[in-house]
Amino acid sequence: MKRIAVLTSGGDAPGMNACIRAVIRTCLSMGIEPFIIHDGYKGLVENNMEKVSRRYVSETINRGGTIIGTARYEEFKKEEVIKVAVSNLKNKKIDGLITIGGDGTFRGAIDLKKYGVKCVGVGATIDNDVNIDGYTIGFDTALNTIVDNLDKIRDTSSSHHRCSIVEVMGRHCGDLALYSGLASGADIIITKDNLVPKKEMYEEIRKMKKEGRRHVLIVTSENVLDINKLKDDIEKHTDFETRATSLGPIQRGGKPSAMDRVNGSLLGSEAVKMLLKDEEGMIVSLRGNKLAKVSFNEAVKNKIFANEYMYEAAKRVG
Ligand code: F6P
Repeated sequence: MKRIAVLTSGGDAPGMNACIRAVIRTCLSMGIEPFIIHDGYKGLVENNMEKVSRRYVSETINRGGTIIGTARYEEFKKEEVIKVAVSNLKNKKIDGLITIGGDGTFRGAIDLKKYGVKCVGVGATIDNDVNIDGYTIGFDTALNTIVDNLDKIRDTSSSHHRCSIVEVMGRHCGDLALYSGLASGADIIITKDNLVPKKEMYEEIRKMKKEGRRHVLIVTSENVLDINKLKDDIEKHTDFETRATSLGPIQRGGKPSAMDRVNGSLLGSEAVKMLLKDEEGMIVSLRGNKLAKVSFNEAVKNKIFANEYMYEAAKRVG
C-alpha cells in the first residue's frame, strides 16, 4: 500500500479531527502518502482530494467539527455515482480508504467494497447509534455539552418554579437523552425505548408539586414527540408553568473532550494498520480499553439496546 485516503461523512462529530490527524501522521510514519477527500462521498465523486503533509493537521486535535468537511449525499446510493468514485480513486492510485462517520458512511463503504475498494471505518457520530459495544467518537463531547446546558436550564427553571422539557439529538437512538438525563438528575427521560404514557407523566408531576418540588426536568430524544404540544398538555394537567427547549446544533459543535481525542487518535492510527494488514471491510472501535473490530455489515445492523437497567436506575435516582 502506497497511498491511503481519508474522508468524513454524515453529521460532523467532535474528535473527528483527532482521527484524521492520526490517520495522516500514522501514514507518514510508515512511508505511505496520505490523501484527504473534502466533503465526504460528495468530494470523492467530484474528485476533490489532495495529498497532504504532516503540517496540514497541526493544531487541529483540539478543534471541533471536521477540518476536511462533510456532507449528507443521497446520490451515493446510485450505481453510476459509485462508479465515478471508484474510478477517481483508481486514477489517483489510492490503495485504501478510511471512512469516518456513522451508519450512512459505512453503507457507502459497503458499496465501494463491491467494486474492490479496500476500506476501513471508524465510528464517529454524536448519536452513538453504530452497532458496536463502545462509544462512537463525538458522543462523549456532545453528552458533556448537553449536561452543561441542562444544568443551566435547571438553574433558571428552579428559580421560577417551572417544568422544563429539553429535546436532545440522537436521531433514532436514545443514548444522548438517557445518559444526559442520568447525569443531570432528570425527573423523566423519554426515548423510543422508554415512552412514558402522558397520564402517568401528569400524575408524577402533580405528585412532585405536592411534595414541594421547585422544578421538574424532562429530557426527551428528538423524533419521539412534539415538545410544544407536551408543554401545553403539562400546563393544562398540572400546576407547573412549563418551557420547551430544543438544544439544536450546539450539541454537535465545540472542542472535543479528552476521551474523544483519545479515541480519535487510537482508532485513526489503528485503521491505517488494518489496511496494511489487509483487514479491510471492518470498522474498529474501543471496547473498554481493548480494540474491537466488526464488519461493515455488522456495524450497520440495528443496534440492540440492553439498557433497561439504566432507565430503572434513572427512575430511582431522578
Ligand atoms: O447524525 C447526527 C445528528 O446530529 C442527529 O443527531 C440529528 O438528527 C441530525 O444529525 C441532524 O442533522 P442536520 O444537522 O444535517 O440537520
